[in-house]
Amino acid sequence: MTKQERYEEVLPQVVAMIEGETNRVSVMANVAAALHEAFQWWWTGFYTVEGDRLELGPFQGPVACYRIKRGRGVCGTAWESDETVIVPDVDQFPGHIACSSLSRSEIVVPVHDKDGNVVAVLDIDSKDLATFDEIDKKYLEELVKALSKTLVWR
Ligand code: SME
Repeated sequence: MTKQERYEEVLPQVVAMIEGETNRVSVMANVAAALHEAFQWWWTGFYTVEGDRLELGPFQGPVACYRIKRGRGVCGTAWESDETVIVPDVDQFPGHIACSSLSRSEIVVPVHDKDGNVVAVLDIDSKDLATFDEIDKKYLEELVKALSKTLVWR
């Protein structure tokens, strides 16, 4: 099965799973679990915007840093720029925060509230180089749109 086919199969299931749900933590937890199980990534989870920093949210994988400042690391950069950031090799990303030394590549997708403010980021890490590309970006951005529509963030 190609990556695209896997997304085509998994995404509708995840979107159906969160429909009508209003508890943010529960929804983020199930989204992280569903994606992590389907793709077997190294770390799959959320950081939420809390004031001037990101704080660790629901995730699957090894323990991670609690806090990330705005503009710091890949997550803080995705928040500040309000853009999905794909990092094919974390050693080449200035200021990368190594929560796990085994993480080699990653993608971080901003999550918005209904007004378009960034309220969280979806962070996915891989033990392999260059795991993420435009296909992941497309489907993961589609997925976080469902979170924006479903959840009340503030
Ligand atoms: N790699 C992230 C930090 C979070 S952990 O990887 C889970 C970053 O540089 O933003």
